[in-house]
Amino acid sequence: MKQSVISVSNLTKDFKGIKKNIRAIDDISFDLYKEEFVAFIGLNGAGKTTTLKCLTGLLTPTSGKVSVLGYDPSKRKHNFLKKIGMVMGNKTQLWWELPAIETFQLNKEIYDIENGKYNEILNELFDLLDIREVIQIPVRKLSLGERMKCELVASLIHTPELLFLDEPTLGLDILSAQALRDFLREYNKRYKATILLTSHNMQDISDLCKRVIIIDKGRLVYDGKISELTTDFVKTKDILFTLQESVTQKEISEIGELVRFTGLTGILSVPRNRVASTSSKLLSRFKVSDLNIQEPSLEYIVGDIFKGKYRE
Ligand SMILES: Nc1ncnc2c1ncn2[C@@H]1O[C@H](COP(=O)(O)OP(=O)(O)O)[C@@H](O)[C@H]1O
Ligand SMILES: [Mg+2]
Repeated sequence: MKQSVISVSNLTKDFKGIKKNIRAIDDISFDLYKEEFVAFIGLNGAGKTTTLKCLTGLLTPTSGKVSVLGYDPSKRKHNFLKKIGMVMGNKTQLWWELPAIETFQLNKEIYDIENGKYNEILNELFDLLDIREVIQIPVRKLSLGERMKCELVASLIHTPELLFLDEPTLGLDILSAQALRDFLREYNKRYKATILLTSHNMQDISDLCKRVIIIDKGRLVYDGKISELTTDFVKTKDILFTLQESVTQKEISEIGELVRFTGLTGILSVPRNRVASTSSKLLSRFKVSDLNIQEPSLEYIVGDIFKGKYRE
């Protein structure tokens, strides 16, 4: 039996509105198993943060059952809090006017970590994140990327076995986001940590997670492998092409559905069983200098799911 770390059944959360209640989460159920790195995605307002708050005990569910590492999160037991970590991309837990190292030391006291263990984990995290100098500078003077690295250290000093990440790469440049992803991948492996990640960045998700849970308006719409998301939902492939001489959109449209076209380069979306015949038409009718057949991007698939394109 796989070891269940998070178990959510029929979770519902209502907020009191001015006129009527807002149902932020509507009867969702899922389990997370040890060492899994799962993506949790949905549009703004879908209920992701609310779910994470129910899982960490910051909010109490309206109904349903939530069990995290065998605890009821809403009790906020010290032993429970010592085993979990939460990073929110749009919030800081660092003391703004002080160097980050001061927050780390405060957290050391809160989680009562002994000196030896503290120095060991700090050294390891500093090496992985490459921030030895940064931690001595007041937080308000740091770049967003540097600050996020410090946020991570502050949340990981007690080496939680379960980590909640709410849009950790929000606003980061591509190199900082990449560094963060490399770090998270390594943390997941090295500490056998279970991680639930919320992100709008599809690169984060396809790089780090095998499994994705998708919610829409508080309801669960998909829970499964990312690789199967393609086979379950997508009946088409993309043919990317570059021409030697420009042609009109109308001429190309005759052989398939154009999803993008600039005169010289374009993308045709075609049913899987017509990839070969469409490619050969393209090659015989036009002067093609480059041709590539691809699965539609994760971004595109997820976008279509949210547009309701796949609802029966
Ligand atoms: N404290 C709150 N009081 C009232 N409504 C809230 C509160 N927190 C969230 N909501 C509402 O619940 C829904 C889900 O929000 P949230 O969980 O933050 O979504 P997401 O993180 O997916 O963007 C939204 O409609 C939001 O306005
Ligand atoms: Mg949110």
